Amino acid sequence: MTILKTKLVKPIALFFMATASLFAQEGPTSISISVDEEAPTISKHIYGHFAEHLGRSIYGGFYVGEDSNIPNTNGVRNDIIEALKGLKIPNLRWPGGCFADEYHWKDGVGPKGDRPIILNTHWGEVEEDNSFGTHEFLELCELLETEPYLAGNVGSGTVEELNDWVEYCNYDGNTAMANWRKANGREEPWKVKYWGIGNESWGCGGNMTPEYFANLYRQYATYARNYPGVNIKKIASGADSDNYHWTEVMMRDVPHNMMWGLSVHYYTRTGWPPTGSATKFDESDYFLFMKHCLRTNEILDTHISIMDKYDPKKRVALVVDEWGSWYAVEEGTNPGFAYQQNSMRDAMIAGLSLNMFHERADRIKMANLAQTVNVLQAAILTKDEKMLLTPTYHVMKMYAVHQDSKLLPLSFESPKYTYKGETLSAISASASKDKNGLVHISLVNIDSKKENEIEIDLNALGIKNVTGEILKSDKLQDHNTFDNPDKVRPSAFKDFKLKKGKLKLTLPPFSVVVLEGK
Ligand code: AHR
Repeated sequence: MTILKTKLVKPIALFFMATASLFAQEGPTSISISVDEEAPTISKHIYGHFAEHLGRSIYGGFYVGEDSNIPNTNGVRNDIIEALKGLKIPNLRWPGGCFADEYHWKDGVGPKGDRPIILNTHWGEVEEDNSFGTHEFLELCELLETEPYLAGNVGSGTVEELNDWVEYCNYDGNTAMANWRKANGREEPWKVKYWGIGNESWGCGGNMTPEYFANLYRQYATYARNYPGVNIKKIASGADSDNYHWTEVMMRDVPHNMMWGLSVHYYTRTGWPPTGSATKFDESDYFLFMKHCLRTNEILDTHISIMDKYDPKKRVALVVDEWGSWYAVEEGTNPGFAYQQNSMRDAMIAGLSLNMFHERADRIKMANLAQTVNVLQAAILTKDEKMLLTPTYHVMKMYAVHQDSKLLPLSFESPKYTYKGETLSAISASASKDKNGLVHISLVNIDSKKENEIEIDLNALGIKNVTGEILKSDKLQDHNTFDNPDKVRPSAFKDFKLKKGKLKLTLPPFSVVVLEGK
């Protein structure tokens, strides 16, 4: 018997188990939600945006000028204003990016005819007539009811120039700068809160070492003054993806009370220069981009662990002020304009990224999608008078319910998405409770072929009713075009059952779902 047990019964049992698992449905993924009073709030600023003087982001995107036939308010397209209001965008970063470190703000104020024409050396060497400057941008923010985030020039600008810009925007008095603003048509100061000090100072912003930049930051930040009524939040130019030394030096060498935030940039791309088409890709490309996107976990955790070492009380925010996908430009477009389409793959990247930011909401207080209109992982694309909303837009709109809500920590073990022997976590999830007591759960299934069953125990939350929205499509490559702008759009999600506090649902392949429970 003993012999049978060890030498015979085991192999027979294993044979049956293995055969059974070939046919059996894997059980649902069980997600448990905890209510933790100590959990952080998901800052609405994680839903920030970024608009650079790059390609058709500003000119031909946001800004068509007052004389355009396209309906506009002070030159800004009305359809874009309306669409962005739908996203409740909390902040908008401008004028760059790399452009910020060659931007001299004084060129962009005063009568438009007197503004100098400069060369946009970073982005396609196009001529920039400065017709969209500080007033135009801050008026746009007022129309959008969003906070401006101005990126100051450290690479090629002076300390005085930055100091003057802050004073011009924020001081209500009788100084030369305040009076110049008034003479240019704006009586009240705008009281701009968020100021970036440099951008990618390790690269396009000056090719500096972190040791050198840390000192320069201290100098520039000293003179970016607080004027009555506004305590500004200064954001230091931070690391590129896994440049952990940059974060180490900044946290070590800059007094923490001089820096509200330290930035990091991480793009989902295969390398430099960016490769691969935004819409013509196969599963191996898709898998690779998902893998790059999920690397955000490791990048963020390593920067955060360095920050924790120097700042255990988490006083300095990590600001992911550029994130998104980056592919080769669309065929036939200017290589310097970074114009790309946006497919269901980008919807996955948006859903995954936002969930990853939520999870670290105790440290990440702001993030900015690169970029809002016509550039990289855009939320909106325009062509002459036409405008379309991308899958990324739809995900950001579905997720907007998480803004300023309390994080509800989740625990679960994700099923795997396997491709050619490599595996990734198929499911990403995040939950929060808003001020009105509504619970929202955002779920992403990146598996390109397999649906995934989920079971969520809602008993601790006392939820009686659930509704949902889903973004899904037939093909990974599906995207919206100017002739078919609604091919990909959200619909009501009904594929769930709520019984005795347990919610069971099925997530289709490559889909994003947001549930609301009350
Ligand atoms: O978003 C495009 C560019 O990417 C930005 O100008 C720069 O900061 C980054 O390298």
